[in-house]
Amino acid sequence: MTEKRKILVTSALPYANGAIHLGHLVEYIQTDVWVRFQRMRGHEIYYVCADDAHGTPIMLRAQNEGITPEALIERIAEEHQRDFADFAISFDNFYSTHSDENRKFAQGIYRKLKDAGHIAVRTIKQAYDPEKEMFLPDRFIKGTCPRCGAEDQYGDNCEVCGSSYDTTDLKNPRSVVSGATPIEKESEHYFFKLADFEDMLRDWLRPDQAEAISAPRMHTLHQLQHVHTEHVQADVVSKLEEWFEGGLQDWDISRDAPYFGFEIPDTKDKYFYVWLDAPMGYMASFQQLCKNKGMDFDGWWKPDSDTELYHFIGKDILYFHALFWPAVLAGAGYRRPTSIFTHGFLTVDGNKMSKSRGTFINARTYLDHINPEYLRYYFAAKLGNTVEDIDLNLEDFLLRVNSDLVGKVINIASRCAGFISKRFDGKLADHLPEPDLYQQFVDAGESIAMHFEKREYSRAVREIMALADIANQYINDKEPWVVAKQEGSDSELQAICTQGLNLFYVLMGYLKPIIPATADKTEAFLGIEPLAWESTRTPLTGHTIHTFKHMLTRVEQDQIESMLVQAKEELVPLSDTKTISGPLADDPIRDLIEFDDFAKVDLRVALIAKAEHVEGADKLLRLTLDLGGETRNVFAGIKSAYQPEDLEGRLTVMVANLAPRKMRFGVSEGMVLAAGPGGKELWILSPDTGAKPGMRIK
Ligand code: 2FM
Ligand code: ZN
Repeated sequence: MTEKRKILVTSALPYANGAIHLGHLVEYIQTDVWVRFQRMRGHEIYYVCADDAHGTPIMLRAQNEGITPEALIERIAEEHQRDFADFAISFDNFYSTHSDENRKFAQGIYRKLKDAGHIAVRTIKQAYDPEKEMFLPDRFIKGTCPRCGAEDQYGDNCEVCGSSYDTTDLKNPRSVVSGATPIEKESEHYFFKLADFEDMLRDWLRPDQAEAISAPRMHTLHQLQHVHTEHVQADVVSKLEEWFEGGLQDWDISRDAPYFGFEIPDTKDKYFYVWLDAPMGYMASFQQLCKNKGMDFDGWWKPDSDTELYHFIGKDILYFHALFWPAVLAGAGYRRPTSIFTHGFLTVDGNKMSKSRGTFINARTYLDHINPEYLRYYFAAKLGNTVEDIDLNLEDFLLRVNSDLVGKVINIASRCAGFISKRFDGKLADHLPEPDLYQQFVDAGESIAMHFEKREYSRAVREIMALADIANQYINDKEPWVVAKQEGSDSELQAICTQGLNLFYVLMGYLKPIIPATADKTEAFLGIEPLAWESTRTPLTGHTIHTFKHMLTRVEQDQIESMLVQAKEELVPLSDTKTISGPLADDPIRDLIEFDDFAKVDLRVALIAKAEHVEGADKLLRLTLDLGGETRNVFAGIKSAYQPEDLEGRLTVMVANLAPRKMRFGVSEGMVLAAGPGGKELWILSPDTGAKPGMRIK
């Protein structure tokens, strides 16, 4: 047994102003696979996360919804945790940055930095919305691009010509909050002097020379476990060097009221910028876990701690994690991370996720249609340990999942299990007929483990699938279905199927970090204790298994299509960001359309003649709408807000000339209009009394 490590792992904290989407899930799945692997290896490992609850977008979204930020973040926290649980993301603790623990960290760390002289105070000029009486982050200002003249561009860069500029250069600027023209206003800001830590950071980021020299000898897994000595992976080093060359700038860590966050001690109306207290949320969440479990927080966070700390992040937030965060920690007398593991973005069918193409897919939308194990498998099959983007190609997804998981892996069990149940009362043979073949599978475990350890999941998957091919070849060669028909061949049949099921057993052990729910089913089917990494070293012989029940079914094209239809249809909350990941803001101003576009939409008063639940749909109700003579069948995503019986007999407004769309549950012939952020707060639009079914809305 290898030495037991103490490991703390985090994924980036999702903003509490929007839904979890597939772009986020790349990271949570990547982290979760690693964590589950380490747990199977027997290490002491904790995986913590939290909602990132502060900042202007959250404050404004709550205002738009007419609720307090606290109520908003509470609701979103529930949604996030439900999505994570359904994707089997196995956090040991999930908390919020808006917590007492985090306030103490933010204020305590700030005081230490201040006392050590790492905080500067300066007056700066910033854009200010005179109507809303608030300072405006760049993302809350739009105007005409000073370079190419494109309209409706953000305050800091143009999406048309790609140039970056100062907000003050933007032409015809306006506040996206109120529409007012921003003015410039002075205010006092607090800065963290990052440059004080330049030498420390350069040293910390340089790969350890001693390790680098001995690296060629480090080729066993046991040795590798001590090799996460590179604080960042090689492919982000040049990016970091660029930043050093550009000079480390002071970091503005304060924001003026109104702001949703923590107040800066000994100031008036000044708050910590959301990014100051966000990473401290890792500590706060872990502290809450320590309290619940009676563990020693300080032992994990003191500078000479013998524990390991890993942060999984996306490449857009590298600066915060590889520069600010270690500097803040060092400045306040805490340990620094062991490594920052950075990944790339997700594209869907080769492009950035897009709302108009319907490829901006929320976690829940996916879950409404497709088994989460498949996405976990697909992402794992694509993930390496670099910052390269990964693509979810939906055609490839379908083929790969069906061929690998259903066609190869599960097929091994389904080809052998029936004979064992029916002919041998569930009992496996006392010996394997081909122990060497079994041993070959066991021996592969070392290299597969090494790939998991290094986050080279695609390599691990490739090796596992090569073994699955060998197992299937074994069954093809032995033809148990032929043997089964031969007289007096019972023991041969039992031996072949025992061999096949044992190969399946080893494979499922290796796949368990990736597809944990299927591993659970395997454990139940084989009648075994939860699989650990070493469990499968000994084969299952003379052991009784249970009846095989199907574990995974094929993904069908129409499931993917209905998911895409739903993604396109979903009313996207105003606060959702345009890019997949990144600290972006609300965008309350929608693209303008011409009158002719509007005139094309045929809006009609409709009577809800019938409303019913749709079997298997989480969000949809089936509505039969009466348009005064003509009836329409429409699926509406309003189940979270209405009981069908409350809708029957009510009038609503529908888009009557929307082309019919085939959905998983049938054809939808229009769309009803509803308003609100979602969940329970969704209201179908109802015309005044006097309106009659079929009336055109003008
Ligand atoms: O980029 C984001 O989505 C941030 N909410 C990530 C924060 S990670 C950590 F530092 F808190
Ligand atoms: Zn431009």
